[in-house]
Amino acid sequence: MANGIHEMGRTLSADWPYPRLVAHRCGGTLAPENTLAGFDACVRYGYRMVEFDAKLSADNQLFLMHDDTLERTTNGHGAAADHTWAQLSTLDAGAWYGDSAQFAGTHLPTLAEVAERCAREGIAANIEIKPCPGRDAITGALVASGALTLWQGQTPPLLSSFSFEALAAARDAAPALQRGMLFEEVPADWLRIVRELDCVSLHASHRYLSEPLVAEIRAAGLRVLAYTVNDPARAHLLAQWGVDMICTDRIDTLNHDMFSTLA
Ligand code: G3P
Ligand code: MG
Repeated sequence: MANGIHEMGRTLSADWPYPRLVAHRCGGTLAPENTLAGFDACVRYGYRMVEFDAKLSADNQLFLMHDDTLERTTNGHGAAADHTWAQLSTLDAGAWYGDSAQFAGTHLPTLAEVAERCAREGIAANIEIKPCPGRDAITGALVASGALTLWQGQTPPLLSSFSFEALAAARDAAPALQRGMLFEEVPADWLRIVRELDCVSLHASHRYLSEPLVAEIRAAGLRVLAYTVNDPARAHLLAQWGVDMICTDRIDTLNHDMFSTLA
């Protein structure tokens, strides 16, 4: 095969410039999720890739946040999609985190700010497109086109989403960016879905993965990402099964050396 690793009859994309470990929600559980403080923790622990959740404000600013609503991770109230960026940018996104006063004043980052940090630190990104309800297509399209511009000259980000509609819009807006379909439990028709979206990877909860399933997915030519894996023994086993990327909250516990004996 000219451009890939021939494996069990199908070809895995050789265009996979990503490390084995990726920090969930920027810095796992060591800092407020989806913030630059998390990014700093990721750098401190020698991580070379971050996963984070990207969505749109009411006026279409691209920013990082997991939930549809503001209460859990900020001092705001209501639906994120009902707020303009001028409103969201004033929120505290760090005070909710544990008892620590250390993160008070932390703000919600824009996608542009994270792209700039990735460039400065040489860190790769898995951008999870996390649309607010009813905004799947526009979020997919704007994240993909924004990422294409913002990550120019860097390792291209890997886009992923639980939303078929968002990933389809991302594919149409920026076909050159690689995509991974996110599932919790891998459904029976996974192959049809990933083919339709022209994905290079399948991302699933590690709880529903098994050695034969990982082999089947990789035999179809797809990389496999498992989330959210916090136990080193489980991470090692998944890697032995052939899982390409492990998304973890425990950036203090899982390190790249633990995979050194694996191919
Ligand atoms: O991309 C893997 C993981 O982030 C998916 O779950 O809910 O943490 O975004 P969630
Ligand atoms: Mg995520």
